[in-house]
Amino acid sequence: MVSRVIPVDLFDLVIFGGTGDLARRKILPGLYRRFLDGQIPEDSRIIAAARSEMDDAGYRDMIREAIVEFVSKDKQDKTCIEKFLSRLAYVQVDATGTDGWDELAEKMRDGVVRAFYFSVGPSLFGAIAERLHAYHIADEDSRIVVEKPFGHDLATARALNQTLAEHFDETQIYRIDHYLGKETVQNLMAVRFANMLFEPLWNARNIDHIQITVAETVGVGGRGGYYDKSGAMRDMVQNHLMQLLCLIAMEPPYAFEPDAVRDEKLKVIRALDPVEPDDIVRGQYGAGEGGTSYLDDVENRDSRTESYIAMKLHVANWRWKGTPFYLRTGKRLRARTSEIAIVFKDPPHSIFGDQETHKSNVLVIRLQPNEGMNLKVTIKEPGPGGMRLVEVPLDMSFKEALGPDAEDIPDAYERLIMDVIRGNQTLFMRGDEIEASWAWTDPIIEGWEARGDRPVSYDPGSSGPEDALMLMHKDGRRWREVKV
Ligand code: BG6
Repeated sequence: MVSRVIPVDLFDLVIFGGTGDLARRKILPGLYRRFLDGQIPEDSRIIAAARSEMDDAGYRDMIREAIVEFVSKDKQDKTCIEKFLSRLAYVQVDATGTDGWDELAEKMRDGVVRAFYFSVGPSLFGAIAERLHAYHIADEDSRIVVEKPFGHDLATARALNQTLAEHFDETQIYRIDHYLGKETVQNLMAVRFANMLFEPLWNARNIDHIQITVAETVGVGGRGGYYDKSGAMRDMVQNHLMQLLCLIAMEPPYAFEPDAVRDEKLKVIRALDPVEPDDIVRGQYGAGEGGTSYLDDVENRDSRTESYIAMKLHVANWRWKGTPFYLRTGKRLRARTSEIAIVFKDPPHSIFGDQETHKSNVLVIRLQPNEGMNLKVTIKEPGPGGMRLVEVPLDMSFKEALGPDAEDIPDAYERLIMDVIRGNQTLFMRGDEIEASWAWTDPIIEGWEARGDRPVSYDPGSSGPEDALMLMHKDGRRWREVKV
């Protein structure tokens, strides 16, 4: 098969926090896979900058181990791993001091793309950005990549934006939301805007409601300190689920270009109605199924932080008036499943009498596992016995439909880092988008803090709290079953 991978330009990528968990689990293994695929020019360089005392050889050993641990066995090619490792260097840098910066400056080459990945806590963003300029390491073509959490609320997100803006233009800032790098998430745009079939029906006249589910089986063990200060609302809804909602609800952008897409997403966030307290269910997992409870995991017996949230939202504009969006996400649930379900309305009149004609069409876009699409349609049940209706799925797994090309879908991080090198911001969040999202999130969180609301408990391995079922039942609807 002819490779369809197009190599990116030659680059020097500096990873601040290059010895951290994200770098070892995602960034470096992802870069290795792109290297293996021939997408990274051999002369490109990856320079890890961190506080620990280490030399190039020590860093290469660390990343060799990370590749063995986090890259699938069939992709562990010894020669290629060593070639990749030879592209790595390490510089010991004091982010808030002076040590190491001159050395880093000396390593940068002219005439190649310079990118700086801030895989560090947001409290260091300002100090690093400032030094990149003070030591002439960054220039006006350089790109910086920043991770979530991008702020804890509107005020902190705004302050971060201002800090970065002092040193970099918005066109140089790549704020990562890794959900935007997922194959199916991008496919949402292809499905909507490259087909004539769906868009004419994509509105409140034809769609009864939309469900977005991101269910995880893992708990918060190991990240309790961070998670307990965030909860599902800040950790998942404000960013990942919000991005999914935007891609479903937005108007067609005039082009698949960064600001055209991001302008439309921003309009959706700004059109969100405030959420009524009765339209939110927060949950916390208890102990069971061989696991500890949330309270034990975060070592805080009084925690009121939610590990599960379900909510009903309204996008107040012409297209969506009257079509609710139901969102749910949580940890320690029955299965790891993420999907978007577009539930269409019933036909306005049944010509088949009062037999079950209420089986509505549902378009399901599966994000994980087994990326694909499923459209439920009603047909006649085969055989004699008159006109009996039956619901059947038109099911498509991308892997089955596209064969080997879809076998090897790059991880979200790989794709996004390559986009940084290409200078394409389409799949990154703009500063105003993040601020708008916090502006919508803040009053909701402030509301439950002011009322002293406590999350309800749910059984691990279940599909979440009972109250979340009621959120739908009271509207005469129900959640789709999360398949194991
Ligand atoms: C991260 C959250 O951003 O996304 C985690 O901080 C969550 O809590 C993760 O587990 C989910 O990502 P994915 O790609 O596994 O669905």
